[in-house]
Amino acid sequence: MKNILVTGGLGFIGSHTCVELIHSGFNPIVIDNLDNSEIWIKDRIEKIVDRSIVFYQGDCRDENLLRTIFKENSISGIIHFAAHKAVGESVQQPLKYYDNNIGGLVTVLKVAQENNCSNLVFSSSCTVYGTPDQLPVDESAQIKTAESPYGTTKIICEKIIQDLVRANKDYKSILLRYFNPIGAHESSLIGELPLGVPSNLVPYITQTAAGLRESLTVFGSDYQTKDGSCVRDFIHVTDLAKAHIKALDFLLQKNEGTCEAVNIGTGHGNTVLELISTFEEVSEQKLNYEIGARRSGDVEAVYADSKKSRSLLGWEAEISLEKSLLDAWNWQKTLAK
Ligand code: WQD
Repeated sequence: MKNILVTGGLGFIGSHTCVELIHSGFNPIVIDNLDNSEIWIKDRIEKIVDRSIVFYQGDCRDENLLRTIFKENSISGIIHFAAHKAVGESVQQPLKYYDNNIGGLVTVLKVAQENNCSNLVFSSSCTVYGTPDQLPVDESAQIKTAESPYGTTKIICEKIIQDLVRANKDYKSILLRYFNPIGAHESSLIGELPLGVPSNLVPYITQTAAGLRESLTVFGSDYQTKDGSCVRDFIHVTDLAKAHIKALDFLLQKNEGTCEAVNIGTGHGNTVLELISTFEEVSEQKLNYEIGARRSGDVEAVYADSKKSRSLLGWEAEISLEKSLLDAWNWQKTLAK
C-alpha cells in the first residue's frame, strides 16, 4: 500500500480526499496545523473508512517535523492542500498568505527532494485565470495578474513547481485548478467548516437557511449574465477529491518528468441566483436574501473547459448541482446552532 503525504488533510478538500485515497487503496499520512480545521474531523474520516489514519499535528513550514514524517514513513507521493484560502483576508494580511502558502510549499518540496519523493499533486485554483478572455476557460488561457494576494500565491506556487520540474528531469507534478468546490460527504460526517463568517457562497446559504445568518446578500445583479448575477462552475467536493486520485495514478505510472495544469470543474456555469433557487428546491424552504452591491475583485463569469481532465486523467464530474446542495444542507443540519 503506497503512503501519500496529505498536507492540510483535515481541511474541507483534504478530508474528502483522504476518504477517496483509502477507498482507492492508498494510505494517507496527514499533516495539519488545525489552523482551519478541527481535530474531530480525523475521527469522522476514520468512521467513514472504518480504520485509523496516521496524523501529525504541525505546520508545513516545520522542516524538522517534515523530516520526521519522511523518516517514519516511506512516502510515494504528496498532495499539497495546506494553504490559507480566504480571498478577502489575503488583501488585509498579505504577508500571512505569502509566508504560509509559499513558505509551506517550498519547505515541503525541499524535504521531499531530500527524500527522493518526486510525485506532487498541487491544489491550485481557477483564480489564476482572473477574468478569462473567453469561456469556457482552458488550461492554455493566459495567467492574469491576480486580484488578491491569495490568487498571487497560487500563481507563484505554480511557477515554483514548474521551475523545479525544469531543473529536475524526473520530477512529476499535476497542478489541479479547482473551480468552486461545494457540498459535503454523503454521510454528512465531513463537510465545509468555515471558521467565523463564511466568505464563500454555499456555506453562507446553508448558514442562512439554518438560521445562523439573518440573510444572504447577493453581491451584484447588474452583470452581463442571464440574470445579472455572477456565473461560477460549482463542483461537488467528492468529485474533486476523486480527481486527486486520478492525478496521483497518472503521476505514479509516468516514468519521465512532467508538469501539467488541469482544470477541475463540471464544464458548465450556474449563476448565483440559480444556485439560490436550486437550493430552495432541494431544501424545500425559502431562502432569505437580498441584492447588494458588487464585491470588489469578483470575476463576472468563469467556468471550466473540462476536456483535458477527461483526456489526460480520465476524470469528469458526476454529481449534480442538486445533490451537491442537498449534501451541503444535510451537513449543515448536523452542525451545532
Ligand atoms: C462565488 C460567487 C460572489 C458570497 C473563491 C476563490 C477560489 C476558491 C473559492 C478557495 C461570487 C457570490 C458569495 C456571498 C455572494 N477559493 N457571493 N454572496 O469568489 O468564486 O472563489 O472561493 O477554495 O479560489 O477565488 O467563491 O463562493 O466566494 O463566491 O453573492 O455571501 O458568489 O460574488 O460571484 P469565488 P465565492
